[in-house]
Amino acid sequence: MDYTHFFLLATTTLGFISISKSLFNFLVWIYATLIRPTKHLKDYGSWAIITGSTDGIGKSMALELAANGLNLLLLGRNPLKLEATSKEIVDKHFTNVQVKYLVVDLQNNSGDEIMKKIEEAIADLDVGILVNAAGVAYPYARYFHEVDLDLMDTIIKVNIEGTTWVTKAVIPSMIKKKKGAIINIGSGSTVVLPSYPLVTLYAASKSYLAMFSACTNLEYKHQGIDIQCQVPLFVSTKMTRMKASLFVPTPDVYSKTCMKWIGYEKLAVPYFFHSLQSFVIRAIPDVLLDSYMLNYFLYWRKRGLVKDSQIKGTSNSEAN
Ligand SMILES: NC(=O)c1ccc[n+]([C@@H]2O[C@H](COP(=O)([O-])OP(=O)(O)OC[C@H]3O[C@@H](n4cnc5c(N)ncnc54)[C@H](OP(=O)(O)O)[C@@H]3O)[C@@H](O)[C@H]2O)c1
Repeated sequence: MDYTHFFLLATTTLGFISISKSLFNFLVWIYATLIRPTKHLKDYGSWAIITGSTDGIGKSMALELAANGLNLLLLGRNPLKLEATSKEIVDKHFTNVQVKYLVVDLQNNSGDEIMKKIEEAIADLDVGILVNAAGVAYPYARYFHEVDLDLMDTIIKVNIEGTTWVTKAVIPSMIKKKKGAIINIGSGSTVVLPSYPLVTLYAASKSYLAMFSACTNLEYKHQGIDIQCQVPLFVSTKMTRMKASLFVPTPDVYSKTCMKWIGYEKLAVPYFFHSLQSFVIRAIPDVLLDSYMLNYFLYWRKRGLVKDSQIKGTSNSEAN
């Protein structure tokens, strides 16, 4: 066989493999989105633990889990918000559902304290599901060297360490009964996009969650524990301060779709229109996306600096 024939055969084979893989992934996505049944979530156990349960996605996921008949242990840092959320959930016709809460500050409690509090609280509970939804983002885009120490500490402690310690506290009880599901809320910033400049620490913390979920998924699958990273793109919450639209769902709309994916893939983009966005984004060359993202976030940095200086009543030359 001469070189020309070999080259043609090799490129055709590679092209065929690549197209088959994309087609296969597309068919799996159609099946998962439209046909695959939702798992019977109570089969994992009668209690669900949710971090970040006092607002946004975590709160809506708590409501959805209660609608699926699970009792809830809400975790949060603010006792008043926890009490109000518990009441709201009970009032929303979930009379058969028990709701407890536990004050845990993922930034200000040490890992040891977080673990002890949770271990004590769940000692007598049949915990089936853990949702790690607590998270913190930048108030506005900025270069890495501009991130103040407090924000840096918050992001590392809440987004990375918080999820790690909470999971460490809960997983032994799941191993004991050989079933459970853990859902870590990651971000499209790391899975769908090639980069997320000027929001670096946030994106990197979410990358950690995607890898943490992928590895633990393999480690514990054979023990009956389904670990998954669910990846939202934009959702209309206090974190994004964006208006709801088709591509920016409310947390309630978003969380309804999350239930359908629990217990399946190690990585999931649950909301249909986010998946569509992902397909389109992934088709764009990285170099174009990188350049677009950098300019987009430079614009938001400038707006943030202006707002910041207006609040402080100072002039910020960099913003001009
Ligand atoms: N919204 C989006 O577009 C989007 C996109 C991708 C990924 N995500 C991820 O989705 C998750 C939920 O985001 P969201 O938009 O729902 O945010 P959110 O509305 O701001 O809610 C964040 C939750 O985390 C809790 N939290 C913050 N700091 C904490 C701490 N030190 N200790 C304990 N809990 C703490 C908050 O408690 P308080 O109520 O006391 O503030 C709140 O319950 C986050 O992990 C976020 O990164 C969101």
